Amino acid sequence: ATTTDGETTDVLVVGSGIAGCAAALSAAREGAEVLLLTKATKPDDASTDWAQGGISTTRGDSESLKRDIIAASDGTADPAAVDTLVNHADDAVEDVLIDTLEVGFDETADGDLDYTREAAHSEFRILHVDAATGTHILRPFLQYVDDHDRIEVRQDTAALELITNEGRVHGVVSDEEPTGKPIYAGATVLATGGVGALYSRSTNPDDATGDGIAMAALAGADIADMEYIQFHPTAYDGEDPFLLSEALRGEGAVLRNGDGERFMDDYHPQGDLAPRDVVARAVEAEREATGEVVLDVSPLEFETDYPAIAEKCRDRGIEGDEIPVAPSEHFLCGGIDVDDRGRTSLDRLYAVGECARTGVHGANRLASTSLLEGLVWGLRAGDDATGFDPEVVEAPKLLNRDPELPERFAAEKFTRLQQTMDEYLGLERDPDEIARASAVLRRLKGEVDAYIRTRTARDLYELRNASVVALLIARAAGENTESVGCHYVATDADESTVEPTADD
Ligand code: SIN
Repeated sequence: ATTTDGETTDVLVVGSGIAGCAAALSAAREGAEVLLLTKATKPDDASTDWAQGGISTTRGDSESLKRDIIAASDGTADPAAVDTLVNHADDAVEDVLIDTLEVGFDETADGDLDYTREAAHSEFRILHVDAATGTHILRPFLQYVDDHDRIEVRQDTAALELITNEGRVHGVVSDEEPTGKPIYAGATVLATGGVGALYSRSTNPDDATGDGIAMAALAGADIADMEYIQFHPTAYDGEDPFLLSEALRGEGAVLRNGDGERFMDDYHPQGDLAPRDVVARAVEAEREATGEVVLDVSPLEFETDYPAIAEKCRDRGIEGDEIPVAPSEHFLCGGIDVDDRGRTSLDRLYAVGECARTGVHGANRLASTSLLEGLVWGLRAGDDATGFDPEVVEAPKLLNRDPELPERFAAEKFTRLQQTMDEYLGLERDPDEIARASAVLRRLKGEVDAYIRTRTARDLYELRNASVVALLIARAAGENTESVGCHYVATDADESTVEPTADD
């Protein structure tokens, strides 16, 4: 069934992290009327608010940043996409973050900007606000777009389906009462973030259910690199995990195993500052061999320089300088395939931020390039998305007619999905296990699909989206038999995840 009731806007942005805000800002600067839909009811429902370490600049040497991005990606990043990023990085940071939003980046005692470093960066080039950078960027950004005359921000509103007609996207059906509302747009920009909710341990908010990727995939958009799920090596190893920024290691903190020994030099010439995928697998191997791994923050002025992280430690009752850590799902390097302006393979559909696959990250992302990618591609896509008139076509009509749906259906299926992803599509993959996971996920998606045709409940659509994305990950992981970056395929000959490289 279809409907044509609804509202229209020039540019529709879905998502309220840095990429969505940047797209809204640049479209509005071009004179477009913008509607920004977000599931969020508060800033920390967006992953941007959780970003700690900072935002990379080139600090005047774009070639050096490009080299580091490509090296961290195991040589798989797309050089043209990396050029787009590094060539626009400093202007975007200066124009939007410094001049427009007046973000108070940390300064040295002399009043110069203070640049920090994270793993696999050869230079100190990352701007930060202690290690709570995302919060300090997103909150003024949300305020700015909300105050803008040509931007309406509509919170607590999810996009459920794309409206498509002959390969062109005309907007979305939102979950506004009672059974969804068509919102027609000249162009639609997806900025819905990552997929952390598919795993039981993630540094993302619970809302990261891969909505944009699933909607785009169901509408026929090209999706790429879904096997490249980055696990952060240092999340708190306990109840309610949280990120311990790589900036801590960048400034001198070190990893120690259960025997109190440093071990990273045995795994990689860059030691504690090796690329993230290498450190994550080494941490896991040492946890298995010696019982635990801790981040020793004694070389730092931890309480003074990292107050937000120190507070989280206090809240969890962590005392002393050694914080137990374990890898945790952190970032999806793949996603909806886009070009250098965020254009997807479907006409008038754009994707930016973590839900997009620009090619910048290849198989493994360099630290502090995600906020930057969201900002640069958000600005470029928002600018490109203007100038199209909304067209009213028939939209999918959603229904609400199955009162029998068990109340805990979505929650229970979600738990099964997470268990499957944790077990079979985590840090290390095995071809047989991937096949097993695919079978479980296909069954699960079948059960969800049976209900989705009858109910518009948001949790059911989130489950549908998560199961679509989980299957995309399983399929991509199954098709890629080569270990590269954060896709690590264990073979029979290779029982352990990672071998120390030193002779001893
Ligand atoms: C961190 O602070 O370690 C995370 C930074 C990032 O993921 O880019």
